[in-house]
Amino acid sequence: MSGLDVRAFTVGPVQENSYIVRADASARRALIVDPGEEPERLLGAADELGVEIEAILVTHCHFDHIGAVAPVAQATGAEVYCPVIERPVLADVMSWVPPGFGPFQSYEAEHTLAGGERLRVAGLDIEVIFTPGHSPGHLTYAVSGPSTVLLSGDVLFQGSVGRVDLPGGDWPTLERSIEDLIRMFPSDTVVYPGHMGVTTLGRERETNPFLSELRVRLPSVSATPGAAPAKS
Ligand SMILES: [Fe+2]
Repeated sequence: MSGLDVRAFTVGPVQENSYIVRADASARRALIVDPGEEPERLLGAADELGVEIEAILVTHCHFDHIGAVAPVAQATGAEVYCPVIERPVLADVMSWVPPGFGPFQSYEAEHTLAGGERLRVAGLDIEVIFTPGHSPGHLTYAVSGPSTVLLSGDVLFQGSVGRVDLPGGDWPTLERSIEDLIRMFPSDTVVYPGHMGVTTLGRERETNPFLSELRVRLPSVSATPGAAPAKS
């Protein structure tokens, strides 16, 4: 088979990326990462693809990533996996939403994750990595396939990084999380971020202006066996 099928849906006023992920383009089982808003559109997309949503994975509990968790979970019966530190936010969403957004429905996650777990859901193998810094409990999901891909929420963007000025944010911590990902996975690993376009670890490692200090600490990509700079 051709490998992982990842579909992006940019939703809501903050333009957050929700992803429907399945083992390949003919798989009938799928999961959804960060259903942030527009539940009807996400459910319609799942219908159109002919997939059943078996799980909802949450990278972190900023409102723009969780606004559609409850309606999607209720409509599909999918169980929700949430960072343990941020579970109380999902369970009481509107206490954390800035004026002018929502309303969103709270949800009690069935599963909590701290990082270090391995999940087998919707026929996919997933490694859970603790990547704090943008938010205190932030998780990155590494989905295994012919090539492993990262669903990394608001850790790393194309030419940018997650903001660190919200409660629990911290730049040295976020920089360390990004360094962990760069050291754990090959340069050509595709990154599906929570905002903006798809990128690769290698591209960001070489060109992201926020990673200039980190680049000094890392060996050059050309010196890393088997890791070629990403072309874009
Ligand atoms: Fe965020």
